[in-house]
Amino acid sequence: MSYIEMENINLEYQILKDNSLKDLLLPRKKRLSVVTGAKSIHALQNINLSLYDGDRLAIIGHNGAGKSSFLKVVAGIYPPTSGALKVEGRIASLFELATGFEMEATGWENIKLRGLMLGESPKEISRKMKEIAEFSELGEHLNIPVKYYSSGMFIRLAFSISTAIEPDILLLDEVVAAGDARFLKKAQNRLNELVDRVKILVYVTHSMASAFEFCNKCIWLENGGIKMTGTPQEVADAYISNSNSLLNKETHQ
Ligand SMILES: Nc1ncnc2c1ncn2[C@@H]1O[C@H](COP(=O)(O)OP(=O)(O)OP(=O)(O)O)[C@@H](O)[C@H]1O
Ligand SMILES: [Mg+2]
Repeated sequence: MSYIEMENINLEYQILKDNSLKDLLLPRKKRLSVVTGAKSIHALQNINLSLYDGDRLAIIGHNGAGKSSFLKVVAGIYPPTSGALKVEGRIASLFELATGFEMEATGWENIKLRGLMLGESPKEISRKMKEIAEFSELGEHLNIPVKYYSSGMFIRLAFSISTAIEPDILLLDEVVAAGDARFLKKAQNRLNELVDRVKILVYVTHSMASAFEFCNKCIWLENGGIKMTGTPQEVADAYISNSNSLLNKETHQ
């Protein structure tokens, strides 16, 4: 049994008032940013939500609404500023793919390291190494440090590793733009299989069609808070009619 339970979750980012490059070049004691203190952005506001096995949640909302922040809190990348978060189950995050890579280490070494980080046992990783390498199609390039990879090569490796583990919970931020067109198609198929296997899916998307295809629940985030909860159809209808009326208002002004 896997679950995500969020009770009155808040996330505030601390923003330095003055972090200009010139300021950062000064000795720390003299920096304006240090002297004047910080300002904050309240990215998630009083989120109450529980998800259990079989729940497939779509998160929709405008740019800056807090969708990625929501995923980052569930993934444990940012601890909530206040509230209670309980997560049971192995999580795979398909966003910020670059997090957790050792730039000086080779592709092979990174497969091992990253696999361990994602909670696989050394035995499981050894068993999967060949398959991960084959899927990435990086061949000899796996023998060199990943700092020499092109961005497409890097994404191939990151995607191949992240989708090779068996998670209970999958956190997905839009479609991963994984390399060239052929690899993208292969990646999409692999992603669809993974989505079918996991117990809980949390999927941030701007595409209503994807929300209908993959999800059975939906929330609309606005200014960091949940504006509406329902089926993807209910929430998408309300969201679209709200966006249309805003658009009409703007064009008639
Ligand atoms: N690392 C950060 N430090 C400071 N503020 C941040 C950080 N990440 C996000 N924010 C702020 O938090 C708010 C929510 O951002 P978030 O990235 O969660 O939005 P989003 O809904 O994912 O937007 P988009 O659709 O553009 O991806 C925004 O006001 C943003 O400026
Ligand atoms: Mg985002």
